[in-house]
Amino acid sequence: MKIIITGGAGFIGSHVVRLFVKKYPTYEIINLDKLTYAGNLNNLTDINKEKNYRFVKGDITDAHFIQNLFENEKPDAIIHLAAESHVDRSITNPLEFVQTNVMGTVNLLNAAKNIWKDRLGTLERNCLFYHVSTDEVYGSLDEGGFFYETTAYSPQSPYSASKASSDHFVRAYHNTYKLPTVVSNCSNNYGPNHFPEKLIPLFINNIQQKKPLPVYGKGENVRDWLYVLDHARAIDVVFHQGKIGDTYNIGGFNEWKNIDLIKVICRIMDKKLGRVEGESEQLITYVTDRAGHDLRYAIDATKIMEELGWKPSLQFEEGIEKTIDWYLENKTWLENVTSGEYQNYYQEMYEKK
Ligand code: NAD
Ligand code: TYD
Repeated sequence: MKIIITGGAGFIGSHVVRLFVKKYPTYEIINLDKLTYAGNLNNLTDINKEKNYRFVKGDITDAHFIQNLFENEKPDAIIHLAAESHVDRSITNPLEFVQTNVMGTVNLLNAAKNIWKDRLGTLERNCLFYHVSTDEVYGSLDEGGFFYETTAYSPQSPYSASKASSDHFVRAYHNTYKLPTVVSNCSNNYGPNHFPEKLIPLFINNIQQKKPLPVYGKGENVRDWLYVLDHARAIDVVFHQGKIGDTYNIGGFNEWKNIDLIKVICRIMDKKLGRVEGESEQLITYVTDRAGHDLRYAIDATKIMEELGWKPSLQFEEGIEKTIDWYLENKTWLENVTSGEYQNYYQEMYEKK
């Protein structure tokens, strides 16, 4: 089986690529990535010489390039993760999110439909377009309730609107052209190789450097956190066992109010850095809230657990400690990704806060 994994140099994609390359030596894995600010081949140095792995640099918004690549490679499956993924950036530059997340996905769907035209409509599972999405498409919850696979879409940010749109196109291609598709919607991920503009890696980095921790609003927003390797394992399970045309929610029933989570990270880091208890919490700085900030996300993951037998392998306490250790042990990785374009963007964002 030949699989093109898009966005394989990013945070989640790199963990998915590694898992597939190592676990399935007979599969041929092609990592297709544009290497934007978020894509980093240093995430994959341990597997880049494996015989069943190849990297192709390319842009999913380039329809001609994608069509040629698919015709030449004739993949049996696509696992699509490439995206612009940061809500704050989507507020500054929504069009880029439409280009990559919507147009890019439709380009991939078209190319898959073209090269698989003789395989469409058969009951045999002989090709698959797997679209990786987010729980943010469901909108924002109040204090109670969960997102189910049946929850109506109600995206509230340019990022989630672009992901929702791409999910709709994937389903439309399944319905209209009988393209074999599967979609999963996961909650917030955390873990190694997470770009330090998102809450957890940004705060770990800032605590280390004794920089302010910019908490949006009152820090009362709630996110549902899953260790990135557990998401990669869920993608493996859905890829192999998911029902064609179906959607699976992925999450670990692990909700945290931002401010509580931040205090846990501060306490662990005080211990690890030999600081007095409470020192890192002093860095907490309340800043202007994110525009249209979603209050709460919470995934009901019963379907994937009961139908496909997946469950998270790590408790949050263990996962967050492993994550902090990884960042403390990989200072060069952090220094590399916090230079250049990101640094400029960060500077601009930070000056505003
Ligand atoms: P990321 O921003 O870390 O990585 C995105 C990757 O896509 C990068 O390697 C980047 O270079 C690549 N990319 C961007 N534009 C591209 C283009 N035009 N052509 C080719 N490659 C391009 O993102 P992530 O956090 O790893 O998220 C991966 C996927 O999972 C996304 O689709 C995201 O919506 C989804 N998701 C993320 C989370 C999360 O918590 N991070 C949760 C649920 C779902
Ligand atoms: P983030 O990691 O950007 O993920 P998402 O917005 O996709 O859930 O943010 C997680 C939560 O942390 C969200 O409620 C916004 C908040 N946040 C801050 O308070 N300060 C920050 O600097 C960042 C990046 C996020």
